[in-house]
Amino acid sequence: MAGKIAVVGSNMVDLISYVIRMPDRGETIEAPAFEMGCGGKGANQAVAAAKLGADVLMVTKVGDDLFGDNTIRNFQSFGIDTRHVGKVAGTSSGVAPIFVEPSGENSILIIKGANGHLLPADIDRAADDLKACALILLQLEVPLETVYHTIAFGRRHGIATLLNPAPAAPDLDLDRIRGVTYLVPNETELALITGMPVDTPDDAGQAARSLIARGIETVIVTLGARGALLVGRDTVAAIPPVPVVPKDTTGAGDAFIGAFAHFHVQGRDLMTALSQAARYAALSITRPGTQKSYASAGDFAAFGG
Ligand code: RIB
Repeated sequence: MAGKIAVVGSNMVDLISYVIRMPDRGETIEAPAFEMGCGGKGANQAVAAAKLGADVLMVTKVGDDLFGDNTIRNFQSFGIDTRHVGKVAGTSSGVAPIFVEPSGENSILIIKGANGHLLPADIDRAADDLKACALILLQLEVPLETVYHTIAFGRRHGIATLLNPAPAAPDLDLDRIRGVTYLVPNETELALITGMPVDTPDDAGQAARSLIARGIETVIVTLGARGALLVGRDTVAAIPPVPVVPKDTTGAGDAFIGAFAHFHVQGRDLMTALSQAARYAALSITRPGTQKSYASAGDFAAFGG
């Protein structure tokens, strides 16, 4: 039986404007369409895994507003365990105004709200349930102390951890994330963490190898339309892209990680799990929205997954 996946991370309400172009400073322009939906990197990864059939535990904080209740109902509609979703009094839920251009590329602002209140003590409270998980997913939309605490917790209890260092955080302490099993940055995040240029897949390989030399076990670099790169102590392997026409790339990285987690805890080998994840993320960018664009297991099978 596949192991359970835990996500210790964020949830947001995505306010997505589909724009013809971004307005200049001081300018007002009209955009053709708007959508609101559940998002946040942690929640997205949880939902992607759950839609594929994974057993998922979510550890997060919502605000005491209408968005908070809706987010909890959304998790539950996908069968996600919400026993460790806390509500913070007097605080808004996290929100993310997002702008998607005709190319499918996006720009995102995040207001963390209640996510900023997910603390190490919340991880300790969820400890018994986390110990029953095979893999814990983390991102950087919650306090860094909570991320470090969870990585150390995973290490102590022999639970694999995956850190997606997004959004890029200049104050991330490499010494305190060394214990992570999988580090999954994109090119920008990898450049920031290593201080090395990451303009080409070769650069990405070199920068990722520098992290392996500094004690990280496995680095998986997401390269957008160029696929992904797996770098371990004795491995460097490219995961080829799955060519599609992009409509909305929002949340594609989260789709990749949620799908990877699902296939990984099912016992697939790393390359198979990563190739399936790349296919799942590619399908998501052909559809508008964030979690809404994630396929169910049936839809994904129809896409060749
Ligand atoms: O990765 C995409 C996500 O980033 C969006 O859902 C938004 O909420 C921000 O967290």
